[in-house]
Amino acid sequence: MDLGLKGKVALITGASKGIGLETAMQLASEGARVTICARNIEGLEAAAKRIAKETGAEVLPIQADVTIVEDCKRIVDKTVEHFGKLDILVNNAGTSSAVPFEKVEPELWQYDLDLKLFGAIHCSRSAVPYLKETGGSIVNVTASIAKTPPASSLPTSVSRAAGMALTKAMSKDLGPDNVRVNTVCIGLIRSEQIEKRWRREAPELTWEQYERDPRHQIPLGRIGDTKEAAKVIVFLISDAASYVTGTSINIDGGKSGVL
Ligand SMILES: NC(=O)c1ccc[n+]([C@@H]2O[C@H](COP(=O)([O-])OP(=O)(O)OC[C@H]3O[C@@H](n4cnc5c(N)ncnc54)[C@H](OP(=O)(O)O)[C@@H]3O)[C@@H](O)[C@H]2O)c1
Repeated sequence: MDLGLKGKVALITGASKGIGLETAMQLASEGARVTICARNIEGLEAAAKRIAKETGAEVLPIQADVTIVEDCKRIVDKTVEHFGKLDILVNNAGTSSAVPFEKVEPELWQYDLDLKLFGAIHCSRSAVPYLKETGGSIVNVTASIAKTPPASSLPTSVSRAAGMALTKAMSKDLGPDNVRVNTVCIGLIRSEQIEKRWRREAPELTWEQYERDPRHQIPLGRIGDTKEAAKVIVFLISDAASYVTGTSINIDGGKSGVL
């Protein structure tokens, strides 16, 4: 199936590793040109080289911190300056931060919202005028715990629930301009943050044992991988989802209690 991504220009935040890197890799494999951003320049440049080498695509790495409003504007402006347009924005930058309510200091509330909510808001705000020109698409990467927040899931479940509301409201505003806005709700996908959790929670288990451990309560019986997450993100961006906006897809092996 032709996904209609050839010649498209995509900006993916938090794309030096994990789900963001794999999304950039798959978009580049489909013929898109990609801007990737992250804070750590060494990791970012290594990721850019890897994508270019494996796909032959043009890759623009920009060091940026999406908690800084000016950086959000700069990555969008530089992308358009370099590639001449913008078709796709993936708001992916984020990190895990799930603790009990009483342990969340005011600074952590602020940081989590700055990273996961305001980062997506400010990048989208700068990108929307360009996306209107191309009939583009936004995917916000959120988390399945936004829908059914368990104990000790703060502040992230709150920041992610706000990201879901943002997705729905923006999809209504921007539908008439042919700009689609969707979200994916991640459960457990193997990445650096999940590997750290494995070493902290169960250092006595091998990865193969940990990923299939019943404690995760995943109906499909295992933690997912970044390729599986990226494929769904790419689907939502692509022409295959041309009539899909304002929706969320759980990428969680069936773990969530809600659709
Ligand atoms: N993996 C999971 O099971 C899971 C579950 C629920 C939700 N999620 C969400 O899915 C997204 C991807 O997760 P992942 O597991 O692939 O994460 P990851 O492997 O830890 O990668 C996170 C990426 O975001 C970048 N980043 C972090 N803070 C940033 C900032 N302030 N500005 C710009 N870039 C920043 C990181 O690079 P630098 O550190 O160099 O900036 C890195 O490239 C995140 O939003 C995460 O919260 C993941």
